[in-house]
Amino acid sequence: MTAGVFISLEGGEGTGKSTQSKALSEKLEQKGYTVTVTREPGGTASAEVIRELLLTGAEEKWGIRTEAMLFAAARAEHCAKLIRPALVRGEWVICDRFIDSSRAYQIVNRELTDTDILALHAIGSRNLMPHRTFVLDLPEAVAAKRAAARDRGDSDRIGGRDSSYHQAVIANFRQFAADEPDRVRLIDASRAVEEITATLLASLNDLMS
Ligand code: TMP
Repeated sequence: MTAGVFISLEGGEGTGKSTQSKALSEKLEQKGYTVTVTREPGGTASAEVIRELLLTGAEEKWGIRTEAMLFAAARAEHCAKLIRPALVRGEWVICDRFIDSSRAYQIVNRELTDTDILALHAIGSRNLMPHRTFVLDLPEAVAAKRAAARDRGDSDRIGGRDSSYHQAVIANFRQFAADEPDRVRLIDASRAVEEITATLLASLNDLMS
């Protein structure tokens, strides 16, 4: 159905996803592609409202089932109103987090399974999957330090979960790269920004027309 190329950047907290999303989009634009950079949860006005609901307030504000459905609802809006139309126009879309974040974060407490998350994605977003997903990978301790410096003690409802939670998230992302090596590429995010961007760009050669 799509003529464009859909890229997602994934990883734990503080791994440099938004920096790389911008840097990669600049490189692609220099090559003449039209690129939309967006993020999840959010990306459209109504999905940003759901973001606010999800990320502010106390941990107990939402149960994990509601949390997973709110992420899926925000994604449904984002896919329908922004991502699919851009892809149909033949553009590139770079999304800072997408379905793999739900698959990594919302299954940690084991109440929901990967199959549950993918079922919500089928209902909400008709299974739209990125052509390529980059997991920016850092050891949890390094990522936590970077995220703390960025958030200055004011981390959001999910970012503020404990270190064993975030370790499990990182392990889930690594597993996706092992399970789906063609789509999901594990990227060493401990290197210089420019070096990482160059790796991402080189890993998109096969998708460039
Ligand atoms: P961000 O701060 O990277 O924009 O992401 C917001 C937080 O939401 C981050 O802690 C990861 C979390 N998240 C999920 O738990 N599930 C999801 O599906 C998405 C997109 C984000």
